[in-house]
Amino acid sequence: MITPDIQLLKKYNREVPRYTSYPCVPYWYDLEDHHQYFEKFTSGFEEANKIGGLSLYVHLPFCEKLCTYCGCNKIIITNHVVEEDYWQAVVGEWYHYRELMTETPVIRELHLGGGTPTFFSPENLRRLLNCIFDIADIHSRREFSIEGHPNNTTSAHLEILQQFGFQRISFGVQDHDPEVQKFINRIQPYENVKRVTEQAREIGFTSVNYDLIYGLPRQSEKSIEKTIHDTILLKPDRIAFYSYAHIPVKARGQRLYDENDLPAPEEKLKFYLTGRQMLLEAGYIDIGMDHFALPHDKLYQAFKTGRLHRNFMGYTDTQSNFLIGLGVSAISDTGIAYAQNGKELLTYYRNLNDGKFPVKKGYILDETDKDMRHYISEVVCKGETCFQAKHKDIFDKYILPELEELWRDGLIDMDDNGLQVTVIGRIFLRNICHAFDLKQRMSRDDSIRFSRSV
Ligand SMILES: C[S@@+](CC[C@H](N)C(=O)[O-])C[C@H]1O[C@@H](n2cnc3c(N)ncnc32)[C@H](O)[C@@H]1O
Ligand code: SF4
Repeated sequence: MITPDIQLLKKYNREVPRYTSYPCVPYWYDLEDHHQYFEKFTSGFEEANKIGGLSLYVHLPFCEKLCTYCGCNKIIITNHVVEEDYWQAVVGEWYHYRELMTETPVIRELHLGGGTPTFFSPENLRRLLNCIFDIADIHSRREFSIEGHPNNTTSAHLEILQQFGFQRISFGVQDHDPEVQKFINRIQPYENVKRVTEQAREIGFTSVNYDLIYGLPRQSEKSIEKTIHDTILLKPDRIAFYSYAHIPVKARGQRLYDENDLPAPEEKLKFYLTGRQMLLEAGYIDIGMDHFALPHDKLYQAFKTGRLHRNFMGYTDTQSNFLIGLGVSAISDTGIAYAQNGKELLTYYRNLNDGKFPVKKGYILDETDKDMRHYISEVVCKGETCFQAKHKDIFDKYILPELEELWRDGLIDMDDNGLQVTVIGRIFLRNICHAFDLKQRMSRDDSIRFSRSV
């Protein structure tokens, strides 16, 4: 088992982004009254639609109960009457986008995320999907996926989704230990996870992912071992083994406990290393930041052949450079410009009623941003990247000093042409990406917070 030196851990356990985008969301600016984004949208749409088809992300924010650790954009509510207004608003937003499109959109990737998409009744999901597909074509090699909560995903949900062509499902599992579950307010019997996994497979889902988290309050090495052991018994095709992100200034539920309830950084790292080793021994392959896949899974095939990509929805094996995000807080990415919808539900409805896009923040990338994004994407997806001569000045001034330090610490191998992440370096991928993060380096805003890298 790889065991990085404790000094190394202390040195690199810093606040760094997870790099699901570059530049990272906190560096985006206000896009209200901003037409630049929509110009980029219109100019990029046709090409993207013809070449690879579009990706669509639909954010379904409602959850019945607050899991106290949760850092996602969610709205806690028990009254399901909210479903109707929400799915209709999402459809309104989609139709609004359709007016900007010069031809019928071809949907290649579709992901329903949350919050808890399975908060919605199967019937409401059916209505939503019918309306989305009503004005679109479906790509012959579609990839449709959903995030399901093991406690409220039913076979009726799974059957309807399967009829619409969904083949991938990701279950939020987090931890199987009853004591941890009690502490994080997420009681979720193992039988529920087992039941939904078996049902999904019977109904025809070909890829089941579990999200697990290490570093949660009340976890111990023993509990992590048991969680991983029990997980392996159910053989999910993919596993996201996330580092718990503790940012109580943003995720208020996390204020219900304090740092003393959390494992120390060296314990947390041990949890990761123990879990990782168990997964490797069970046949899973570490394909990148937090993610593991069994060899038959498409994600591993993509990793092996250098076709792995990463966007806001996580790792994917299809490269669509054009993502439209629908719903509160959803993010769109045209390849050269990002936009994020506002997070407030009533403002989202109001904007749509007024015939406006509910976009709040965004960012138009310049050439340097695109190049830095390329380096970061290669580090995260391939574990290596080649340096380009045209960036010599930027490298000398900003990037090389940080890379040289990473090299001295054994996290990367490097020569004049490029870098390769070492085995130890894979634990610190976020820190390696940081070397190319010119935006964060130039920022003078000290109020921007990220979770720590370990
Ligand atoms: C948007 S949530 C949706 C999952 C679904 N609502 C559920 O809970 O089953 C996606 C995943 O983010 C991860 N997540 C949420 N909060 C986190 C945190 N503070 N640190 C690390 N991962 C977190 C969890 O693993 C979760 O399954
Ligand atoms: S973890 Fe999932 S179910 Fe729990 S509050 Fe977050 S989004 Fe909702």
